[in-house]
Amino acid sequence: MEIRLLTRDDAAAFRDFRLVGLRNHPEAFGESAREWAALTPEEIAARMPAPGDISEGFIVGAYDNGRLVGITCLMRSQHLKKRHHAELWGMHVAADMRRRGIGERLVNELIAHARTIDGLDMVYLTAATVNERAWKLYEKSGFTIYGTEPKALRIDGVDYDQHHMILDLSKLS
Ligand SMILES: CC(C)(COP(=O)(O)OP(=O)(O)OC[C@H]1O[C@@H](n2cnc3c(N)ncnc32)[C@H](O)[C@@H]1OP(=O)(O)O)[C@@H](O)C(=O)NCCC(=O)NCCS
Repeated sequence: MEIRLLTRDDAAAFRDFRLVGLRNHPEAFGESAREWAALTPEEIAARMPAPGDISEGFIVGAYDNGRLVGITCLMRSQHLKKRHHAELWGMHVAADMRRRGIGERLVNELIAHARTIDGLDMVYLTAATVNERAWKLYEKSGFTIYGTEPKALRIDGVDYDQHHMILDLSKLS
């Protein structure tokens, strides 16, 4: 298993892998599969880190024998007063590769890279309350739930609440 930062050369694999996640787990993501499928390759590449610079965010991928089997992404806030904040988004492990510790390795790698970004303290994320396996994973990596948003997502008329979770990098030893 190779865990590494993705580059724009991984854009096609990233696009296809995320689309599977969005289709299979709509309640796990704020973005819809339809929105993602409509993006051009250029728009997807633009969401990926500039070569050699992770200061605005990055994508960590897990490759198993050349196949992308897991991703998690970080995006730093652009607002001047929120530059110490970033959002973890897009966490997804292939269905046939789950419960092998890949999700945990991806989150821990994301945290390790986030800690190298100057001025970044807070990593924030949301997870549907029904998605217990996800928020348990984040809790295991040190995130805590600080609030729960009712009706955060509405999918085909069904409402989902979301936990909001945070990790203060400056408090890690
Ligand atoms: C959530 C997800 C990323 C977990 O990935 P994974 O590789 O299976 O997770 P790991 O094997 O690293 O598990 C790490 C921890 O997460 C929790 N966890 C993972 N799967 C779990 C499950 N099915 N039930 C309960 N806890 C679970 C456990 O705390 C686990 O630690 P443990 O094995 O010591 O009990 C994966 O299930 C997934 O991609 N789900 C669909 C997309 C999704 O929900 N993304 C999250 C969006 S917020």
